[in-house]
Amino acid sequence: MRWLVTGAGGMLGTDVVSLLTAAGEEVVPHTRQQLDITTPAVVESAIDDVDVVINCAAWTAVDDAETHESEAFRINAVGPQLLARAAKRVGARMVQISTDYVFDGHASTPYGEGAAMAPASAYGRTKAAGEWAVRAETDDFLILRTAWLYGAHGGCFPKTMARLAAERPELQVVGDQVGQPTWTADVADLLRRLVDAGAPSGVYHATATGYVSWHGFTKEIVSSIGRSPEMVKETTSEAFVRPAPRPAFSVLGHDALERAGVAPIGDWAERWHAAAPDVVGLA
Ligand SMILES: NC(=O)c1ccc[n+]([C@@H]2O[C@H](COP(=O)([O-])OP(=O)(O)OC[C@H]3O[C@@H](n4cnc5c(N)ncnc54)[C@H](OP(=O)(O)O)[C@@H]3O)[C@@H](O)[C@H]2O)c1
Repeated sequence: MRWLVTGAGGMLGTDVVSLLTAAGEEVVPHTRQQLDITTPAVVESAIDDVDVVINCAAWTAVDDAETHESEAFRINAVGPQLLARAAKRVGARMVQISTDYVFDGHASTPYGEGAAMAPASAYGRTKAAGEWAVRAETDDFLILRTAWLYGAHGGCFPKTMARLAAERPELQVVGDQVGQPTWTADVADLLRRLVDAGAPSGVYHATATGYVSWHGFTKEIVSSIGRSPEMVKETTSEAFVRPAPRPAFSVLGHDALERAGVAPIGDWAERWHAAAPDVVGLA
């Protein structure tokens, strides 16, 4: 099978390309410089003779999207639309990466794949639009919603916390937002398993199972680098206001994976311990 990967220089894109290459697949990786997904002629000429198009390209600066929504929309909605249209033209399957931010986070039980989207931020609105755009262009698609991503390539929450823990005597981290920390290598693996299984077109939740607060996750991160988790103090979202609202309850269910006979990613804590040497190194 021939896989085309956009955003191949990003945190997830790098791991997707590595995993597929290591598995002996034929991969056509495109960084932003090689394929700008918002330029129709570039997309049209790049997508030819491939079986799967994986879109890892995105505007991911959540706070900046509040003041640059139209630029974010071009990348997160128009880009996926152009890719899905081109994928359909060549008979390829379209894989779009989406996010927990399509939900407002006001729920108290895990969001199902079919729950109504209700984004509370500009970034979430543009990603929700990307999902609709893909659905509008092709009926051969997988939408993988992931969340709280970390990985070895690029900046991420665990790397920031590990650095701060080495510099400061104490860290203040919010305890009133919960979610599912998820390793990019696990998303790459799940993505490949879904395609290999010929999973039906639809939305799948590509997050680890279980959930934890940012405060609880930071305690694990700090332990992984040999520091005392006692240095991590709990604060609230109210005391730590950001330009874009964050969902308080970002917990996604995995029923669609079970229906497709594809195992979900494992428990977030177990996966963090597997990932930590790659992401932050071990003390
Ligand atoms: N990070 C998270 O916590 C998280 C959570 C949930 C969902 N997601 C989703 O997961 C996916 C991967 O995210 P990530 O964390 O790997 O993001 P990332 O590291 O920021 O990678 C995104 C890549 O897209 C590229 N890009 C931006 N605009 C482009 C364009 N017009 N054409 C082609 N490429 C373009 C970027 O290139 P430049 O760097 O050169 O701009 C970058 O290499 C995204 O769909 C994101 O929305 C991420």
